[in-house]
Amino acid sequence: MFASLSLGLALLPFVLATVHDVQVGFNGTLQYSPEALSANPGDQVVFHFNPKNHTVSQSAFADPCGLKEGGFTSGFMPVAANTSADSLPTFTVVVNDTTPVWVYCAQAAGTPESHCGAGMVFAINCPSGDAPNSFTNFKNAALAVGASLSAAAASASATQAAATGYAPSPTFTAAYGGVTIPPAPSASVVTAAITLDSSSVWTTVYTSFANSPAATPVAAAGAVHTVVVGGTNKLFFSPSNITAAPRDTVVFQFQQKNHSVIQSSFPDPCRKLNAGNASAPAGFDSGYFPVGANDTVFPTWNLTVNDTAPIWAYCGQTSPESHCGAGMVFSINAVDGSARDFSAFQALAEQLNGTASDTSASASASPSSTAPSGALSLRVPGALLALVAIAASLL
Ligand SMILES: *[C@@H]1O[C@H](CO)[C@@H](O)[C@H](O)[C@H]1NC(C)=O
Ligand SMILES: *[C@@H]1O[C@H](CO)[C@@H](O)[C@H](O)[C@H]1NC(C)=O
Ligand SMILES: *[C@@H]1O[C@H](CO)[C@@H](O)[C@H](O)[C@H]1NC(C)=O
Ligand SMILES: *[C@@H]1O[C@H](CO)[C@@H](O)[C@H](O)[C@H]1NC(C)=O
Ligand SMILES: *[C@@H]1O[C@H](CO)[C@@H](O)[C@H](O)[C@H]1NC(C)=O
Ligand SMILES: *[C@@H]1O[C@H](CO)[C@@H](O)[C@H](O)[C@H]1NC(C)=O
Ligand SMILES: *[C@@H]1O[C@H](CO)[C@@H](O)[C@H](O)[C@H]1NC(C)=O
Ligand SMILES: *[C@@H]1O[C@H](CO)[C@@H](O)[C@H](O)[C@H]1NC(C)=O
Ligand SMILES: *[C@@H]1O[C@H](CO)[C@@H](O)[C@H](O)[C@H]1NC(C)=O
Ligand SMILES: *[C@@H]1O[C@H](CO)[C@@H](O)[C@H](O)[C@H]1NC(C)=O
Ligand SMILES: *[C@@H]1O[C@H](CO)[C@@H](O)[C@H](O)[C@H]1NC(C)=O
Repeated sequence: MFASLSLGLALLPFVLATVHDVQVGFNGTLQYSPEALSANPGDQVVFHFNPKNHTVSQSAFADPCGLKEGGFTSGFMPVAANTSADSLPTFTVVVNDTTPVWVYCAQAAGTPESHCGAGMVFAINCPSGDAPNSFTNFKNAALAVGASLSAAAASASATQAAATGYAPSPTFTAAYGGVTIPPAPSASVVTAAITLDSSSVWTTVYTSFANSPAATPVAAAGAVHTVVVGGTNKLFFSPSNITAAPRDTVVFQFQQKNHSVIQSSFPDPCRKLNAGNASAPAGFDSGYFPVGANDTVFPTWNLTVNDTAPIWAYCGQTSPESHCGAGMVFSINAVDGSARDFSAFQALAEQLNGTASDTSASASASPSSTAPSGALSLRVPGALLALVAIAASLL
């Protein structure tokens, strides 16, 4: 009696193990079918490679079209057009646990022809429906990678065309000054319901783009980032670029001299966002905080982060010289290594409102220096928070 019971329990996991079949590129489509499935630990997912040349490669939710470190990959599976359905090559993935497994096709990675960028992605055990890491959001993120690769290619070819005088460039010139501004990455606005704790769900609207950070707050109250503004012989924000999640608070601590923090835009770094446009919401503006040379108590001003899209800001002081033109600018969630990263923003401020020469700054602001979006660095909010904490503790 006991023996047969324990034997039955021991066999249970094997009895329940299931084989799930997934068609890769069925009928010539750039798709896995089904696109997502639920599986128990011990189950097998068998991928059948249809004609063309696809892969089954593991990625991460935050980077849908890149191979996850230590992730599995089938390698390329070229299959001739006339291969019969019963002789298609296969690749089998064993499901080890119930955490989500994200998969993409690596064909033509980093080019506008990217299969992943066309939405060729797949998931095992992804959260359903409206979760932030749902399959829909994963696929949209992959499509955003494709859109940004296409935009980069279009911009590169138009730049080439502009040089020969045949086509207009999708990049644009600054509102003043003859500087060329790199195009903004394509983005989409996503509404997500995020569980803050066991009892409350928070609905947020955020801007999603290739490499945008997760919209998931670190806690219901958000994290606190301290940014020091100015100080003796310091015309800069410290740190001058941070990564922050929605609901986070940025505490600006004003030190020596007379500074402010005002929201601007990437193309016009030293002017308030939507200045002179009454029909658009004005940017934030802390006002001025004069601090004496020997003061030891520093006033603060708080800003709440609501979105994952980059936020650009500057110090508005122009007396006796433009602090912004001297490079006193700040960013939240700028994508490091992209054409619109913090250093490109700072170079643009110096070029438009400062004394930097046109040629020196245009090198860092030019789209030609952009790495392909697949090569952008991944941000690790925890590590940045640690850096902010260290910076704050040194004050
Ligand atoms: C496969 O594609 C052909 C033509 O492209 C179409 O007629 C056919 O219905 C498709 N079959 C399936 C099962 O989708
Ligand atoms: C399959 O695709 C890979 C990557 O693009 C390529 O290196 C390989 O030559 C292709 N194989 C065939 C047989 O086309
Ligand atoms: C598929 O087509 C190629 C060239 O058209 C031919 O050489 C090959 O034998 C065919 N294979 C099958 C299984 O019919
Ligand atoms: C499960 O574990 C095996 C052995 O470590 C590994 O090869 C396989 O890729 C894992 N499966 C998943 C979905 O990570
Ligand atoms: C601080 O700067 C602002 C803007 O330049 C100016 O209006 C204000 O008078 C300054 N305050 C002090 C105490 O210098
Ligand atoms: C930057 O230059 C523009 C154009 O001359 C000007 O309108 C703006 O006030 C300047 N901003 C600062 C902070 O110097
Ligand atoms: C002012 O803002 C509105 C709303 O964002 C926009 O549609 C319009 O083009 C802006 N006008 C100018 C002159 O930039
Ligand atoms: C600041 O302190 C120094 C030395 O303690 C003193 O010489 C200076 O006058 C003070 N400046 C002000 C503005 O109080
Ligand atoms: C600013 O944020 C800090 C940290 O959350 C908080 O301690 C402080 O009270 C806030 N200040 C204001 C004026 O809200
Ligand atoms: C976030 O929303 C709050 C409240 O609406 C607003 O005061 C704040 O300026 C917003 N933050 C940014 C960066 O726009
Ligand atoms: C942004 O800040 C981080 C850490 O403070 C730094 O490593 C990185 O180089 C900065 N990015 C730019 C473009 O300056």
